[in-house]
Amino acid sequence: MTDLTALAAAALGEVAACGDLTALDEVRVRWLGKKGAFTEQLKALGRLSAAERPAAGERINEAKEKLHAAIAQRRSLLERAAIERELSAGRIDVTLPGRGEESGGLHPVTRARLRIETLFRRAGFEVASGPEIEDDYHNFTALNIPPDHPARAMHDTFYFPDGRLLRTHTSPVQVRALRERGAPLAIIAPGRVYRNDSDMTHSPMFHQLEGLVVGEDVSFANMKAALHGFLQAFFERDLAMRLRPSYFPFTEPSAEVDMSCVFCSGKGCRVCKFTGWLEISGCGMVHPNVLAASGVDPERFSGYAFGAGIDRLAMLRYGVNDLRLFFENDLRFLTQFRSLGT
Ligand code: PHE
Repeated sequence: MTDLTALAAAALGEVAACGDLTALDEVRVRWLGKKGAFTEQLKALGRLSAAERPAAGERINEAKEKLHAAIAQRRSLLERAAIERELSAGRIDVTLPGRGEESGGLHPVTRARLRIETLFRRAGFEVASGPEIEDDYHNFTALNIPPDHPARAMHDTFYFPDGRLLRTHTSPVQVRALRERGAPLAIIAPGRVYRNDSDMTHSPMFHQLEGLVVGEDVSFANMKAALHGFLQAFFERDLAMRLRPSYFPFTEPSAEVDMSCVFCSGKGCRVCKFTGWLEISGCGMVHPNVLAASGVDPERFSGYAFGAGIDRLAMLRYGVNDLRLFFENDLRFLTQFRSLGT
C-alpha cells in the first residue's frame, strides 16, 4: 500500500505524456484494465486487516477516479487537436475565384424556329401544332393523296404496325388547324417530320415550317408577298425570290420558291451549285379538296400554303454546310451558337 502515491504519480505522468489517442488507450488499459496496477492493488486489500481495509480501499478508489478524470481530459484535448489538424490540412480558400457553371445555349435549329415564330407573329400569324405520330387520313388522304396515289411512294414513310405513321410533313396540321379553328385563319406550324432517308443533306428526322392562310380573298399574290417579306426579314437583307411551277397534290397551282443565294448574292457559288438560286420552300393555293376535307367551303374561301425546311433555313443563316452537324450534339459545334441572338 505504501507505494500507492508513487503509482498514482507515475500513471498521471504517463497520461500527460500521451501524444495520440492510441497511446492514451494503451495507458488506460495498462493502469485500469483487468490486469492493471490499480486492480492488483484492490486485490491486495484482502491481505489487510478488517480495520485497515476501508481506508485503504477508499484511497485506491480515489486514485483510480483521479486517473479516469485525467484520461478523459487528455482524450478530449487530443481529439480537439486531431480535428484542428484535419481542418488545417484540407483548408478551403474561400477567397479564390469560383470556377463557374458553363451556361447552356439554344440549339441553332431552335434559334431559327424562334426567329421564324417572332417574324410571323408580327405579321399576324398564330403558331399551331399537331401530333408527330399521325394517322394516314391526316398525313395523306385529307391532303388529296388517296390510297394508291403515286405521291405516297415519294414520302418514304415510317409506319407503325397499327397503320399509324410518323408524319412525313407538317401539312397535316393544315387540316387539323382548319378543323379546330375554322376559316379565316393564318397560322404557321413548325415541327419535326420523319422520312426514311439519310445522307449529307437528308436526316430521317428534320424540321418543317408549314404556313397556311385561308380567307375570303386570299390570292397567289398575297402568298408571294408574304414569302418574300419573310425571307428578307429572316436573312436581314434584300434578296430576289422567284416561283417555279411545281406539283403537290394538296395545292393547285403549286410552285417551288427559290431565293437568290445568300452566300454569293446570286453570282454563283458552290452552295447554290453555280445557279445563283437556292430552293427554299414548296407552296401553292390550297386545293379545294383539302378545304372541303377540313370543313371549309371552297366556294367561299381560298387559301395559300407553304412548306419550308427549318434546318435548311438555319444552315443558310448560320453558314452551316452539313445538316448532320445539327443532330450529332457535338458541343464544339453547339457552343459556337451560345452567345448569338436569334
Ligand atoms: N408538304 C410539302 C412537302 O413536304 C411542302 C408543301 C407544303 C408544299 C405546303 C406546298 C404547300 O414537301
